[in-house]
Formats: sequence, structure tokens, C-alpha cells
Amino acid sequence: QWTGPLVGRHVLITAGPTHEPIDPVRYIANRSSGKQGFALAAAAAKAGARVTLVSGPVTLSTPAGVDRVDVETAREMAAAVEAALPADVAIMVAAVADWRVADAAGQKLKKDGTGAPPPLALVENPDILAGLCRSPRRPALVVGFAAETNDVIPHALAKRQRKGADWIVANDVSDGVMGGARNTVHIIDAAGVDSLPEMPKEAVAEAIIARIATTLAHTDGT
Ligand code: C5P
Repeated sequence: QWTGPLVGRHVLITAGPTHEPIDPVRYIANRSSGKQGFALAAAAAKAGARVTLVSGPVTLSTPAGVDRVDVETAREMAAAVEAALPADVAIMVAAVADWRVADAAGQKLKKDGTGAPPPLALVENPDILAGLCRSPRRPALVVGFAAETNDVIPHALAKRQRKGADWIVANDVSDGVMGGARNTVHIIDAAGVDSLPEMPKEAVAEAIIARIATTLAHTDGT
């Protein structure tokens, strides 16, 4: 693809959940399907960008023209993001597990007969988005996502500050968004809040990619 508003740009996207092992057969995860991140990757490729899609475990096929890197854990995702730099734009859509098991067992855990469950000590995972925003190789435009069930916009405003992202795309996941086909998002940037109507995840992706193309065109004068 040699035409489109993002020709010559490298867009880095994370998508899906991460899986944090408990033992070789069990893991901690979340309900992310990867659909919104994959739709963004498809839309960015359609707009002419070179796209690197770092994906956690999902059951989706790779969109045309997208370079996909599969990972399982948050730490693998962080390493894959770092390895994919430099990028002009990063869109961090993955629902990264906040915690991992401190010492994942090398062998399958067994019931010990006493009825006592194994203690699972958790430790915090690296924050990939916040790390990228502080990096000397920070992309010119960094977009984070915020899945919230309540007080969606106040939480997203706070998240934008805390993470150091240029934009936060907030979505209300209180009602069937996770795994579903449609999404309602609010794009929060330095200027304020832009609320889009409910629409298919593909249309949300097209709208965000169009906004990114416009912003890049204005920031570097091309
Ligand atoms: O803090 P919270 O998980 O709600 O932030 C969501 C945003 O941060 C998303 O863009 C997500 O991809 C990103 N994130 C990340 N690494 C983490 C946690 C969240 O990149 N460990």
C-alpha cells in the first residue's frame, strides 16, 4: 500500500489481554478480545502506515499488511514494544494485567489434601504506556486507552496526566463492550473531550486513525 494519509509512518499498536502464568497450565487474564486494537491496526494499514501489532493471546486473524508480534505476558509485551521502536505513533490498546504471580510454579500445582489453597503472592507488572511516555525514544504521538465502568471521563482525565499520554481514548465497559462488536468512546487530549457516538469498533478505529493523520499533518507541516 503506497497511498493514504499515513504513508511513511510507523504505527505501533498493542492489543488483547496478557496471560500471567500461575503454573504451566494456569494463568491470570482478563476479558479483552483484542477486537478494538486489531481494528485500529487494520485502519492504520489501510491509511498507508507500516504497522507493528504487538498482540496478547487472542483468536483473531492478522489484518492485511500488518506485522504481528505475538506475546503472552506483560513483560514480553513491554520487551516487544521496546524492540519495535522507533515509531511515529503508539496506540496502546492492550488490557495489560496489572499483576503477575511473584513466583510462577515450574510444575503443575497440586491439591495437598489439607484443603489449604496455595498462597499466590502478586507483584505489579511494568506499565508499558507510562514507560513509553517517559522513554527517550517516545513516539511523537502516544495514545492510551482507558476501560472504565464508572466515572469514565474523570478517570480518563486523571489517567492522561498520570501516564503522560497525549490522548486517552476512554471507553465505558460497563455494558457488553468487552468482546462485543460496538464501542462508545471519548477522546481526551490537551484541548478537552471529544465524544463519539456509539458505533462498530471498525468505525471507531477509522475515526481515531483519521484524527491521528490530521494531527501528524499539522505537527510536522507535511
Ligand atoms: O492503568 P490502566 O490499565 O487503566 O491504563 C490503561 C492504558 O494503559 C491502556 O492504554 C493500556 O494499554 C495501558 N497499560 C499498559 N501497561 C500496563 C497497564 C496499562 O500499557 N501495565
